[in-house]
Amino acid sequence: MARLNKLMKFAEMRSFSNVFQNFDPREPKLIGANNREIDLKGNWNKLHFHNNNPIVLELACGRGEYSLGLAKLYPGKNFIGVDIKGARIWRGATNAKEENLHNVAFLRTRIEQVDLFFGPEEVSEIWITFPDPFLGKESRRLTTNKFLDKYKQFVSKGALLQLKTDSIDLYEYTREVLASRKDVQILVDNADIYKGEVNEQLAIKTYYERKHLAEGKKITYIQFVFI
Ligand SMILES: C[S@@+](CC[C@H](N)C(=O)[O-])C[C@H]1O[C@@H](n2cnc3c(N)ncnc32)[C@H](O)[C@@H]1O
Repeated sequence: MARLNKLMKFAEMRSFSNVFQNFDPREPKLIGANNREIDLKGNWNKLHFHNNNPIVLELACGRGEYSLGLAKLYPGKNFIGVDIKGARIWRGATNAKEENLHNVAFLRTRIEQVDLFFGPEEVSEIWITFPDPFLGKESRRLTTNKFLDKYKQFVSKGALLQLKTDSIDLYEYTREVLASRKDVQILVDNADIYKGEVNEQLAIKTYYERKHLAEGKKITYIQFVFI
């Protein structure tokens, strides 16, 4: 039943105008509503959002709570949630449609491929929200040098990159990676955000954040820029 439910969501999602999917990681092709192939690299604003607003990515977005939360706070920006899990994207895209949030879209791809779908300087901010820490497999962590080099290819000058995680190991690992790079400046480094006051952006809570808070975990946050 659960599987059937999932297949129905996947079928329905193919008609969504706010979801773009890559079905074959060997080919950088995106499929939008009604199976239409669309080349969005460098063209997200022109072909999808139809404005010139700054583009913000949420990597490992799951159900896209950050994209939706920020989209409500900042109607003058465009938000794209990126994840590989179809059922989670279906949830986020359905919520965005129901809430008439035209400044939110979703990109279903492996984040290993994300640089294939954005042009130079196309993105002005990145959030990485509670990514799997992959403690046993460093290469899959979304803050390795390899991933950072990919993000660097498509962010604009001064773009903020932000990691929010409950994983102390991933937080410490990321601090080390960032400290080892000459092209990065850390702007905020907070090992326990709820110890003090949080601003309206940091106050947004995702599905996983709520779970971690219920388990009594601390939430960490790092904000950095490429220089
Ligand atoms: C722990 S969940 C967090 C989801 C959401 N941000 C939240 O806080 O509720 C991690 C998400 O990262 C996605 N993910 C992890 N590695 C990925 C990768 N390499 N490419 C695409 N998605 C990935 C998973 O599919 C999952 O939805």
